[in-house]
Amino acid sequence: MIWGILSYGVGTLLGFVGLVFFIALFVRDLTQREHTVLRNYPVIGHLRFLGERYGEFLRQYFIVGDRDERPFDRATRRWVYRAAKNEPDVIGFGSTYPVTHGEALAFVPSPFPLSAAERLHAPPLLIGADSCVQPFLARAVVNISGMSYGALSEPAVRALSRGAQGSGCWLNTGEGGLAPAHREGRCDLIMQVGTAKFGIRDAHGDLSEERARALGLVVKAFEIKLSQGAKPGHGGVLPGRKVTPDVARIRGIEPFRDAISPAGHADIHSADTLLDALGRLRDLTGRPVGVKTALGDGRFVTELCDAIHRRGLSSAPDFLTIDGSEGGSGAVPQMLADHMGLPLGEALPLTVDILLQASLKDRIRVVASGKLVTPAKAAWALCMGADFVATGRGFLFALGCIQALRCHTDNCPTGITTHNRRLQRGLVVSEKSLRVARYGQAMNRDVDGLAHICGLAHARLLRREHVLLMTPEGHKKGSERYPYGHPLHRTRRHA
Ligand SMILES: Cc1cc2nc3c(=O)[nH]c(=O)nc-3n(C[C@H](O)[C@H](O)[C@H](O)COP(=O)(O)O)c2cc1C
Repeated sequence: MIWGILSYGVGTLLGFVGLVFFIALFVRDLTQREHTVLRNYPVIGHLRFLGERYGEFLRQYFIVGDRDERPFDRATRRWVYRAAKNEPDVIGFGSTYPVTHGEALAFVPSPFPLSAAERLHAPPLLIGADSCVQPFLARAVVNISGMSYGALSEPAVRALSRGAQGSGCWLNTGEGGLAPAHREGRCDLIMQVGTAKFGIRDAHGDLSEERARALGLVVKAFEIKLSQGAKPGHGGVLPGRKVTPDVARIRGIEPFRDAISPAGHADIHSADTLLDALGRLRDLTGRPVGVKTALGDGRFVTELCDAIHRRGLSSAPDFLTIDGSEGGSGAVPQMLADHMGLPLGEALPLTVDILLQASLKDRIRVVASGKLVTPAKAAWALCMGADFVATGRGFLFALGCIQALRCHTDNCPTGITTHNRRLQRGLVVSEKSLRVARYGQAMNRDVDGLAHICGLAHARLLRREHVLLMTPEGHKKGSERYPYGHPLHRTRRHA
């Protein structure tokens, strides 16, 4: 009886509070001046905002088809998850890949499969063989692209480092400096030098020779970053909330203040000054030095080749990383991500052709990045002339990324791009490093596997004639669609 009266009383009270809440919300929505929808549809209009905020998660699971999601569809992500968990790469009934549509990609199978003895692994490749005191023998074809410490959490970087060691690939530090976490797995490291020279700068923000020499004892190569595909010409900002004391110490800056990467390097504004800067770093460290850039046309590569020929072969960068406009970023203005630069499909063959025409393709290794997260995409890049493939987001998926699209908010639900300890707790380094290693192994193994089916001993023998690209006139071989030294590319040289 007493319980009945009590629960009736509590129920009435809650009902009353709820009513007051909704009336207050109704009045506030009706009178506020910011949102038309709420003025016109008080209370109920909030559903629209909830839908906008959380719709991408709901659509992901209930509405969007396997091949519809962007930037990466679910079928692609599932492939990575399966590889990372060492689950069999098997589907039932048939492919959902749109084999006759848009950018569909296929390979030319050989009628006569190779025997087991003829199937080899892609051999390691030297970078900087003739130019450096200490060239870098890069073991893997597929490697981990630069993602900065700060954009990524400490456990994420530790897992990447251990996983890179487990799969024999390199780990690029990204532009946030070299952290102890990068060294945890004792993997091969490439130190990226961004426009702010984080981690390798002196008190004035210029290159510190002392730091460069010290880093040269630890890393296998350096990469001067001119730009990245997602935001060429923009530089970047790591929001102050992500600049923890640890991140700040490693970058050589103040904590909790926005870490700003300027649009360009203070000491680099032409092909010649770029070659000066990389020559200096190579002399200081004895290590190979490469350049990472996005492209809009062929001018930069052409000017670089011309400058190299003027100054001598030894002045050339040891590698060139071409990042497609479809590339990712921890934080990027949408306008740039959507509308700036050439996608890798155009930028890569263009670069390779210019290097071939300038007889520099053997001297300068080409690294390709931009959504090359499956073996087929990586094999396509090798067909087009890349020597190496780097992927960032492929390895993030292996780490457990669910494509929540929140890297810039410090609220990454999988602990990968957040410094929130509670969220990082979910990322167990010992488990996730195994996944990173397995994904790296699967990528490298399956790129070779595709080459074997094309009748080639290993992936480094893939050429443009081994890939089929969908065009409005039907499938064309890569060598027809992008003939080596095609006039279109020659025109672009002088665009
Ligand atoms: C979270 C995140 C952080 C990144 N940080 C850097 C960086 O510090 N330096 C850089 O050159 N590129 C950075 N990138 C770009 C990647 O290195 C890569 O070039 C690009 O994402 C294309 O590769 P993907 O499509 O395989 O991810 C970042 C990308 C992501 C997703």
